[in-house]
Amino acid sequence: MLITVAAFKGGVGKSTTALHLAAYFQTKSDTLLVDGDFNRCALDWSNRGTLPFKVADEKEAVRLAALYEHIVIDTPSQPDDDELKTIARGCDLLVIPTTPDAIAFAATLNMVNALKKFKVNYRILLTLVPPHPNKAGEEAKLALERAGLPVFKSVIRRLAVFGKAALEGVTVNAVQDYYAPIAWRCYCEVGKEIIS
Ligand SMILES: Nc1ncnc2c1ncn2[C@@H]1O[C@H](COP(=O)(O)OP(=O)(O)O)[C@@H](O)[C@H]1O
Ligand SMILES: [Mg+2]
Repeated sequence: MLITVAAFKGGVGKSTTALHLAAYFQTKSDTLLVDGDFNRCALDWSNRGTLPFKVADEKEAVRLAALYEHIVIDTPSQPDDDELKTIARGCDLLVIPTTPDAIAFAATLNMVNALKKFKVNYRILLTLVPPHPNKAGEEAKLALERAGLPVFKSVIRRLAVFGKAALEGVTVNAVQDYYAPIAWRCYCEVGKEIIS
């Protein structure tokens, strides 16, 4: 399975999502995470600590791809039309993370429009969802569903432990923190919606 994570907007949790989906898929079969962002966020992350799956840049990935059952690709923000075409081509599922705020929301709708001509299988994932009693996450999900857009049933909560994991160079399930299992479960639920 080839899964690409992309969004028009930066800071919506693309790299965090790519990394944790790769960690989930690795529990099923060998998984390769391709760091397609020139900022090398995922590679830096893996260099700070240890990740339970292989991380490679695009060049290395060409050589390695055949060895892995699942491939997750992290991408830079603001893809242009050519990059969108590349992203859409050959991917089984495009995951579009979006935070539940007006700016990210508008960017997601623009992206969905730009994707129409490529006939790509995509699903929107709500990320950095604020805790109760804030209803932004549920409201955003409802709005997307009402607009007839494919959206994951599970959402990713906004939890500081994700930042901690990035600093330590590990995935959240490897962090010593009360919220670590809760954060990890968020991505496992999303992973299960992709492959159980
Ligand atoms: N669910 C979350 N809860 C809290 N912080 C998060 C969450 N997801 C990502 N972050 C933090 O938000 C920032 C941007 O995330 P990142 O995955 O790098 O986004 P992108 O790749 O879209 O730019 C990082 O500091 C990251 O640690
Ligand atoms: Mg990133």
